[in-house]
Amino acid sequence: MSGWGGGYVTDVTYLAQHYPEQSPHMLAAACVVSGVDPGFTGEAPGLHYLELGCGRGMNALVVAAGNPRWRVTAIDFTPAAIAEGRRTAAAAGLENITFIEADLAGFAETVEARALPEADFVSMHGVWSWVPVAVRAGIVRLLAAKLRAGGVVHVSYNVLPGLQGALGMQRLIRAAGGALAQRSDRQVLAGRQVVMDLVAAEALHLRTPVVTELLRHLEKAPVEYLAHEFMNATWAPCFQADVAEALADAKLELVASAKLPENFLGLMLAPAQIAVLERFDDPRLRELVKDICVDRALRHDVYVRGPQRLDRAVQDSLLRGMTLALTVLPGNFAYQIEMPAGRGRGAGLRAAPGRRIDDPAGPDRQQRQPGGAGRHAGRHRAGGVAALAGRGALGRRDAAERGAGAAGGAAGRAEPHHGGGERADGWRAGVPGGGVVPVGTHRRGRRRAGPGSVGA
Ligand SMILES: C[S@@+](CC[C@H](N)C(=O)[O-])C[C@H]1O[C@@H](n2cnc3c(N)ncnc32)[C@H](O)[C@@H]1O
Repeated sequence: MSGWGGGYVTDVTYLAQHYPEQSPHMLAAACVVSGVDPGFTGEAPGLHYLELGCGRGMNALVVAAGNPRWRVTAIDFTPAAIAEGRRTAAAAGLENITFIEADLAGFAETVEARALPEADFVSMHGVWSWVPVAVRAGIVRLLAAKLRAGGVVHVSYNVLPGLQGALGMQRLIRAAGGALAQRSDRQVLAGRQVVMDLVAAEALHLRTPVVTELLRHLEKAPVEYLAHEFMNATWAPCFQADVAEALADAKLELVASAKLPENFLGLMLAPAQIAVLERFDDPRLRELVKDICVDRALRHDVYVRGPQRLDRAVQDSLLRGMTLALTVLPGNFAYQIEMPAGRGRGAGLRAAPGRRIDDPAGPDRQQRQPGGAGRHAGRHRAGGVAALAGRGALGRRDAAERGAGAAGGAAGRAEPHHGGGERADGWRAGVPGGGVVPVGTHRRGRRRAGPGSVGA
């Protein structure tokens, strides 16, 4: 590994993937479901989407291609990744995307940063808990300087206490791999083998559920993923409250999860857990209770700089105007959702191309929702997501299913870094509620979808 990365892996470029959670339409949907104005409609031309730590740029490229009237800026400090992103953009004829090779630790203070327009959306996936503290501080200064008032930020990161039990294994992979090989992809394979050998030798620390699940996940993971996951000297899972504290310096407030089903408390926690959570008003304490109950490894948080709360009627109208698309063939869509609170089955839910997902059960079967979104379930296009989500925790949860649900939550935990990224070879991390994405947000019955509002 060369020295310029400050401890971050620089000799192997990361996977090229697109993550639904980074889509501006998904982020807007998460805001609306949580009762916050995302400040844009699907038609809005001229918006600026900024991606930090973009790697080879696949996500930024998809956003640029799907929103040709928007401007996209993608930043990474790995020259090979930036060169590949630029080459792909040129080959695809994309003129609305700019790749910048820069170190985020000091980018905010540069002339190039000052020249950038204010950003409406900023996304950073797989960056925050992997980079040194100085880089996180640089990111916060950039957000403070460049995010517009009301702008939306997506940040994913490994979470404590969920990943506390993996610290020893990561340390062993990195140290043992570093002693046995040179390049980080070879190091991580050598380090993983040492761990596997110790598992076979019944090393006690490696027999915990966290490590066992992680190892199952890692057996099939691509080597670039493993290298960036385990060979960084600066990897440090975080408590949500500490991330919130750092981002508060850029005047950011947590408003939602970019994984839509996670915004429905009834899908995340059992009633007894909700009762404990409800003792607290402090949002950070509530999130800690949630993370302790769910024991997740990765969060996809959505922050807004100066959130504007939506009036119920406006929220209703935004949800009605939201268009959803299946990302799988209807025949392959699982009308079932595994969530920490249990397994929900969408019996009776059916979708067809161009048609809405209906909820024959009607609104009286909806779960209590913080943003009131459950009220809309099944009535409208966007309501279909609420229907799938809101009904997930209903009625059918028994002890066995709660066990299965807990396993589902644990599967989320065994996904230490990605959420739903997809590769050509089919390797894919689990995504609760995967298979449906918002493709547009439109005010008051205006155009539902079209150029500038499709795709990412
Ligand atoms: C784990 S990868 C994630 C890439 C992409 N966001 C994704 O999820 O596919 C982290 C990325 O952050 C970049 N990175 C790490 N430290 C950085 C820094 N100081 N400045 C800019 N980019 C950095 C790395 O080069 C790498 O491409």
